[in-house]
Amino acid sequence: MERFPSAAALVAAKMPERPVLASRPHAAARAARWFLQNFPGDVAYAYKANSSVFMIGALYGAGIRHFDVASTPELEDAATIPNAHLHFMHPVKSRLSISKAYRTHGIRSFSLDSEDELQKIVDETRGAAGPADDLVLFVRIVVPPINSAVPLERKFGISGDAAARLLVKARQVASELGVTFHVGSQTMTPDAYTHALAEVGKLIGQAGVVVDRLDVGGGFPALYPGMTPAPLSSFMNAIREGVEKLPVREDVRLMCEPGRALVAEAESVIVRVEARRGNDLFINDGGYGVLFDAAHLNWVFPAQLVSRQPAKGEGSEPFALWGPTCDSIDYMKGPFVLPAGMKEGDYIEIGNVGAYGRAIAGDFNGYGKYDEVILDDEPMMSQFGADQLSRAASHR
Ligand SMILES: Cc1ncc(COP(=O)(O)O)c(C=O)c1O
Repeated sequence: MERFPSAAALVAAKMPERPVLASRPHAAARAARWFLQNFPGDVAYAYKANSSVFMIGALYGAGIRHFDVASTPELEDAATIPNAHLHFMHPVKSRLSISKAYRTHGIRSFSLDSEDELQKIVDETRGAAGPADDLVLFVRIVVPPINSAVPLERKFGISGDAAARLLVKARQVASELGVTFHVGSQTMTPDAYTHALAEVGKLIGQAGVVVDRLDVGGGFPALYPGMTPAPLSSFMNAIREGVEKLPVREDVRLMCEPGRALVAEAESVIVRVEARRGNDLFINDGGYGVLFDAAHLNWVFPAQLVSRQPAKGEGSEPFALWGPTCDSIDYMKGPFVLPAGMKEGDYIEIGNVGAYGRAIAGDFNGYGKYDEVILDDEPMMSQFGADQLSRAASHR
């Protein structure tokens, strides 16, 4: 893998024909070290966010050993990581995927949000001597979405009396019983975790069960233009305070499943302008590629011209971007603020696309093929850089 000191150096050397996925593994490692030092429990990386070997290698090198997987291909991939602890946290799994996870890959940790799923897990892990006695079962509950940019509460989770009933039933077959939730991705304020943990407390009280594990899920924010989340340290404080109030054993084992916050700032995509029409730039990656969220959620990512210095007095202007496919939804409204004289042949670094960027990219219309490089400089926006960490420390 070729390494460059910056996107500008890469472009100067290569003038790449294809878009380039540029990884900064040091940034993922730094984020992982922050979580490992500040979260009071196991940090399980949400594999789906970005399973590039550079990201996984960096996270592993920093000390991440737990992984949240959501499908058989993900778990088969993650199972090759030495000494990895895998958690199968998709609440709806096929029977074959459960039995493969348990029997072939030694996974004991599963999430569920229905009695039907509980029965599937019991059936598919049963041995000759009877039901498995080593299951770690996390019941996923519904929690209110508070300030999350990508709410996740509609699809999975159980609530109210049904949740209390499921906790009791899962307790009867679990060696260790856990509760889990997801506050929604890119959650901007820590009160989401406060409310979620209060909900957990209510349900445990109602069910009257002993809970051994608590998984607060993912949802921790990353930095994007126009989105300034609360410091990550305030999320950790809210979690500690919320857990202290819970009717759980004192030695309850905590886990979190960050995806976005660990990898968002550790990858950029470097694209070329193929045409300019007014303040619309036609570029060689887009909404069917790494920039899905820019097209479909109207997210803005940091953008900078990297193939030349802007001319003296050039100023900057807001631009919209069009992706390379023939589809008119392949449009990214932005605004992406770039030098006013942007023109065909200019290269742009679009930063902080490490979470769910490469993971979602497809090859519609023959696009979706990338060159890959490693960059040694700082991400375009970082919440783990020295300045940001000292800002966060003052909130502790
Ligand atoms: C079960 C589960 N855990 C963790 C995550 C990671 O969430 P995030 O990237 O917001 O941290 C997801 C994302 O969809 C998820 O579904």
